[in-house]
Amino acid sequence: MDKIKSLTGMLDLYDDGDKTNLSAKLFYLEKKIKDIFISYKLNEIRTPILEDTNLFIRSVGGASDIVNKEIYSFNDRNDKGIALRPEGTASVIRAIIEKKLDQTNHKLWYMGPMWRYERPQKGRYRQFNQAGVEILGIPEGMPEFEMISIVCSIISEFKLQNCTIKINHLGTQKNKELFCNALVKFLEPFKEFLDEKDLQRLEKNPLRVLDSKNNETQNILRDAPSINEFIDSSAIDLLNSIQKYFSDICNIEIDYSLVRGLDYYSGFVFEAVSSDLGAQDSFLGGGRYDQLCAKLGGKDLPSIGMAIGLERFAELIALKDDSVKVVSFLIVTSNLEPKAYKIAHQLRSLNKDIILDIHLSDGSLKAKLRKANKNNSDYAIIIGEEELKNNTAVIKPLKNELEEQVTVSLDDLYSFFKSI
Ligand code: HAM
Repeated sequence: MDKIKSLTGMLDLYDDGDKTNLSAKLFYLEKKIKDIFISYKLNEIRTPILEDTNLFIRSVGGASDIVNKEIYSFNDRNDKGIALRPEGTASVIRAIIEKKLDQTNHKLWYMGPMWRYERPQKGRYRQFNQAGVEILGIPEGMPEFEMISIVCSIISEFKLQNCTIKINHLGTQKNKELFCNALVKFLEPFKEFLDEKDLQRLEKNPLRVLDSKNNETQNILRDAPSINEFIDSSAIDLLNSIQKYFSDICNIEIDYSLVRGLDYYSGFVFEAVSSDLGAQDSFLGGGRYDQLCAKLGGKDLPSIGMAIGLERFAELIALKDDSVKVVSFLIVTSNLEPKAYKIAHQLRSLNKDIILDIHLSDGSLKAKLRKANKNNSDYAIIIGEEELKNNTAVIKPLKNELEEQVTVSLDDLYSFFKSI
């Protein structure tokens, strides 16, 4: 029979113990990033993975690549348009409005899978994971610093090298409009040199032309008007100040050509890129989206947020050996011996800091010891028929060659386990 395969661009994540695997890194990242979020007193929010398709059309924007060609959507049995979420911000705001919490401030985090129908390549999947932060209800100022502080804490925690946080300011809605008009006017005479994609961008969302991957377009843009000529001096001061106060922790660059691929941004925007990532070099992005809540039917709720692409971030980290001790518990008896299993249970209750790996399958002592070494165990505790009869156990050190293997009473075994 034909085997059923996973869908294109969708990964099975499975930690097989090899620390160089993407899955092991991703699971580790999830734990560590969650701890950082909690240390900033952010509260968790979990929204459904399915939403009304209109939510993303109205927020991320009908002109964005995401809604235009990447959204995973279908009609349900009631003929309602449903989408697998391509990002988390719109859902968070929808939830806050629905709970009538859009008059108050919130500091939120989330983590989970997102879907975009992209052409799969390194660092670009159709199902991928994001860890995100949204700070709601506070106008420009402190939240910008808090957001960059969170980004710097995460980059520092994992000691990432070769990465830069690019920051820019898109100004007010009015500034953005004036800049777009100037850009369109500038590009008008060059239209015949633009490719199909850039022409579409020029028509639907001119700011996105700045993001063009086409070299010819980028050459033309060299003389184009720049956003810094259109934004207030307070916006430039904010960029300078963030750069001044955080550059000793992370590499921060003001990039006036930085625009984001989602329509809801205005004001401060940022992206973190790494030269170690190849073509898909952005592992984190975000910015201010003060109009989104009102646009989705809620109150005016000035907000800022960011999301980390966990698969891309995982590419950048190397896992160290755990400092947690691992003990392999080897039962080598010809019959099933519940008493031996109960000893393992007892041990686990005595020291919860130790990973106790009980080898559940049959096999020779030699094979089990091989597996214990492969599992990076510090000790093996061996219980055979002889030990069961005498209420003893063998402790075999696996990492320290100078330590001898010893046979101990069960009481001594318990004391030893407590003391590891
Ligand atoms: P975004 O820039 O579209 O922003 O996505 C954030 C990150 O998700 C990207 O920097 C990238 O690392 C990762 N990512 C995006 N698409 C893919 C893909 N196909 N495969 C793997 N990784 C991917 C947002 O999603 C906004 N919601 C961020 C935000 C939160 N802005 C305000 N609040």
